[in-house]
Amino acid sequence: MAEFADLTFRGRTVQLPVTVGSEGEIAVDISSLRDDLGVITMDSGLGNTGACQSAITYIDGEQGILRYRGYDIAELAENSAFLEVAYLLMHGDLPSADDFDEFAAGVMDNMLVHENLRHFFNAFPRDAHPMAVASAVVASLATFYPESMGARKGPDAMESCRRLLAKLPTIVAWSYKQSRGIPVTYPRCDLGYVQNFLHMMFSTPYRVMEPDPTVARALDLIFLLHADHEQNCSTSTVRMVGSSQSNLFASISAGVSALWGPLHGGANQALIEMLQYIQRAGLTPGQFVEKIKNKEAGVRLMGFGHRVYKNYDPRAKVLKKTAGDVLQKLGVHSELLETALALEDVALHDDYFLERKLYPNVDFYSGIILHAIGIPTNMFTAIFAIGRMPGWLAQWLEMNADPQTRIARPRQIYTGATLRPYVPFRQRGDGRIPRRRPCNPGA
Ligand code: ACO
Repeated sequence: MAEFADLTFRGRTVQLPVTVGSEGEIAVDISSLRDDLGVITMDSGLGNTGACQSAITYIDGEQGILRYRGYDIAELAENSAFLEVAYLLMHGDLPSADDFDEFAAGVMDNMLVHENLRHFFNAFPRDAHPMAVASAVVASLATFYPESMGARKGPDAMESCRRLLAKLPTIVAWSYKQSRGIPVTYPRCDLGYVQNFLHMMFSTPYRVMEPDPTVARALDLIFLLHADHEQNCSTSTVRMVGSSQSNLFASISAGVSALWGPLHGGANQALIEMLQYIQRAGLTPGQFVEKIKNKEAGVRLMGFGHRVYKNYDPRAKVLKKTAGDVLQKLGVHSELLETALALEDVALHDDYFLERKLYPNVDFYSGIILHAIGIPTNMFTAIFAIGRMPGWLAQWLEMNADPQTRIARPRQIYTGATLRPYVPFRQRGDGRIPRRRPCNPGA
């Protein structure tokens, strides 16, 4: 039976339809509110706003639950692998062996990028951030596949999705090679997805690096655990850009840019930079925690806290164990990592963090693992982007298949000046008319 919520404003009551999700989440549909009562809703940061219905990922932040298509993240982490999870997210169900073989072969065959695209990498400055390169190169893929730009559903759209999933590791690895002035390494047919990424990152024309299985499994796990996280900032960006019917490459490029920020995908890089700062400043973990508690400007414990999880991030639980395995297997002893683990210990027992329900998030341990396996810090967020790609693709496909999708266009409450007349320059300030400054190229 249809359910409604009553809302009364200035003596008028409207009935707002209620939608209930498959896990009992409840939403009150306010889309007719402006027409009915002349008001909009305000929700800074959109923390209480549902923008779509989705059958991809379920999160219960209070209980620390994360499921992809109904499968618990810990079970997937234990039994599955990144490419199978990518299929699951993009197609809705686990693949049969035949379907998986075909999907994986299609991805592996697409890892190579157009040779003309390789030249782009030489044009970026040596110190270009890999996320800037990734965003630019992903957008530029639209110029190489103009025939598939219009496809928003069906086999052609799925083919574009597979292409992007395949090419991002190559783009990211080549941006690293370019930054080091080392020739790029091409993908190999005999290697898997993650092994190929490690090969393209670390092999050179004079030394082939055979990927270590522990490292490859840890990276696969990092990708898998990042594969989707429902309507987070970058995914919402992909949906928002895609809602204007922009092509897939443009939408994903925007998602890469959104992920770059230190409050989102940039947190694992920010974590290592924070640890380096603590070392440089000669602080103990306890002293740094005091700075956080004193709310010194800009000081936060990176890799802790989450908008949705008010309990242990279930992905962090899985990665904490993997981080231990990787450090032990590689025999890595680093002061930076010791500081991270000491900070974790202090924070997990400190009332400031406990009262605010601030637990380590996935980036805390992914930062530690990536640092231990020798991935340069400024590459961390790009690694996250590779992992998040299946989620972005699945959400983009779902959005385009949903007849309810409309162009995303939030409202606002205007707080600026009310109507005022234009004043010419000669009646403003000292009455001077602007003069054109001589140009100074390169300033
Ligand atoms: N360190 C110290 N204090 C924190 C932290 C932190 N990492 N996170 C939140 N707080 C404090 C805030 O200062 C605030 O305290 P107050 O109540 O005394 O004012 C309280 O906890 C609530 O914080 P909000 O900023 O309202 O929490 P919000 O949900 O908006 O922020 C966020 C979530 C952005 C992730 C935040 O926890 C943070 O900045 N964490 C560090 C960055 C990080 O690790 N980001 C990765 C997120 S996971 C991901 O993207 C995969």
